[in-house]
Amino acid sequence: MIKIGFVGVGGWGRNLLRNFFDHPEAEVKTAADLVPERLREVRERYPGVEATDDYRRILEDGDIQAVVVATPGAAHYEIARQALEAGKDVFVEKPMTIAGERAEELARLADRKKLVLMVGHLLLYHPAVRKLKAELEAGALGDLYYLYSQRLNLGKIRKSENALWTFAPHDISVARYLIGSPARAVASWGESYIQPGVADVAFVRIRFAGNILAHIHVSWLDPHKVRKVTLVGSRKMMVFDDMDASEPIRVYDKGVPEALSYDTFGEYLNLRYGDVRIPWVKSAEPLKLECAHFIDCVRDRSRPLSDGWNGVEVVRILEAAQRSMETGGDEVTLKENAE
Ligand SMILES: NC(=O)c1ccc[n+]([C@@H]2O[C@H](COP(=O)([O-])OP(=O)(O)OC[C@H]3O[C@@H](n4cnc5c(N)ncnc54)[C@H](O)[C@@H]3O)[C@@H](O)[C@H]2O)c1
Repeated sequence: MIKIGFVGVGGWGRNLLRNFFDHPEAEVKTAADLVPERLREVRERYPGVEATDDYRRILEDGDIQAVVVATPGAAHYEIARQALEAGKDVFVEKPMTIAGERAEELARLADRKKLVLMVGHLLLYHPAVRKLKAELEAGALGDLYYLYSQRLNLGKIRKSENALWTFAPHDISVARYLIGSPARAVASWGESYIQPGVADVAFVRIRFAGNILAHIHVSWLDPHKVRKVTLVGSRKMMVFDDMDASEPIRVYDKGVPEALSYDTFGEYLNLRYGDVRIPWVKSAEPLKLECAHFIDCVRDRSRPLSDGWNGVEVVRILEAAQRSMETGGDEVTLKENAE
């Protein structure tokens, strides 16, 4: 049994707790939170789990092998660092940290101590996102030209973390995973309407190596609930709609034939409109798969798909987007990862 300690059992932490609690190879030993109500909930629902307001109890417990950090982002670095220093494997929620340098420090520390460090980039464990990747790798779209993703809703409005840092880690991690090449430059626009200094909406443009563009639109101030990724390739186009549980992916046989002549009137008529294919996607809870992946990595001493360095890349892009947003959209160039 892999014994686990939890730091932060709020809105999201309690979902993680349920999943790790149900995992046959994991035992949640201790859960820490600062709010007495959260601790009371843990004691009521999970009588065998020790509930404490002091997470250092977890760090000092030699029985506990792995720590899950699900506090707000600003607290991730310090708790994850202390857990790694104490020799624990760590699962840390997104965003990994709120500063790139700090994220890099954690990734290095985990490597030096040969510990597992996994970041909660949930969508990388989504069966539909895996299917998108498989379709791309099989050449279904030809060359990928660009993608755009939308994560929109009305609420839940956070007080400290803005919509960029709250939602875009998902879209950035998916774009990076699907495109497969490093990000080179970022430009971003956003605005705060409800609370001063906390952006409610952000539009982020990322240039990836290989001239592939990604555009991300995130907002908690929008009339629509949208979670969609659209990919445009040289041969076909593909859409992932996460609000459509039964048929989340559609592949459109639409495009521009390579032999297109630009001189003739026929140009317009040459566009291709073909069939729409709906690939089968296994139905499974991404969170359950994500938690199982962490347990596999801890047991097998293997590197998670969303390891510390993957977290660093996402935080670097977020940081660049934040900087760009503050300068009214100036493009920020990214350095190569120091891995
Ligand atoms: N992967 C996803 O889809 C997803 C979804 C929602 C939230 N999240 C992430 O999960 C994290 C938590 O988000 P949330 O919505 O649960 O926030 P939340 O505010 O509801 O819960 C955070 C909890 O952490 C506790 N906490 C803070 N500092 C602590 C400390 N030093 N010791 C012990 N407990 C402490 C707070 O008391 C609170 O109960 C964030 O990083 C967020 O971005 C991820």
